[in-house]
Amino acid sequence: MRTMSDDHTHVQEFFGARAADWDARFPDDGPAYAAAVAGLGLREGDRVLDAGCGTGRALPPLRAAVGPSGAVLGADLTPAMLQAAVRAGRDRDGQLLLADVAALPLRAESLDAVFGAGLISHLPDPAENLRELARVVRPGGVLALFHPIGRAALAARQGRRITPDDLRAEPNLRPLLAGSGWRMTSYVDEDTRFLALAVRDG
Ligand SMILES: C[S@@+](CC[C@H](N)C(=O)[O-])C[C@H]1O[C@@H](n2cnc3c(N)ncnc32)[C@H](O)[C@@H]1O
Repeated sequence: MRTMSDDHTHVQEFFGARAADWDARFPDDGPAYAAAVAGLGLREGDRVLDAGCGTGRALPPLRAAVGPSGAVLGADLTPAMLQAAVRAGRDRDGQLLLADVAALPLRAESLDAVFGAGLISHLPDPAENLRELARVVRPGGVLALFHPIGRAALAARQGRRITPDDLRAEPNLRPLLAGSGWRMTSYVDEDTRFLALAVRDG
């Protein structure tokens, strides 16, 4: 039986080995992250979490969206990713937390939005973990699940095919979100981006 600590170790080993050159591997993604953040419709003063923030690539556009009076948090399980975020100066744009998004050290309904890039496929129990994200967001708040490459293009890059049980396929993702406290409001899966937006149910 796999335990939660096995899952953590696996994530930390996998991303720990990739942290140092993570940003260098994807140097042109900045505008795509900015466009995805725009999809959240954040306002000045809002409180937003980047769940699985990695090296913090989304933190600058998130800070720009909420301004100095807002709050930007970045949570990640892998210390090396957060260390790379600090080296890149991204801790100036948000507060970094070494935390599991499955058990966030945040009060219920304390946020306006959650941004998660490249996260959902790494979660051990997506339904339960999306429910935890819903817990910390106020009713009417927003979730963005983003990837700077579409599902088909990613599968081709990794030399595999998309299967119908893919978690991020629209017919799977919509009910998954609905069962976890989210109502999906938009879904885009094209070569240059995957972006699903959802609103926290009342
Ligand atoms: C594909 S990377 C994406 C990083 C960043 N969001 C980006 O777009 O560059 C996935 C990140 O999620 C983190 N992660 C995976 N499972 C997590 C969990 N349960 N709690 C917090 N972070 C997690 C990993 O450590 C890794 O940094």
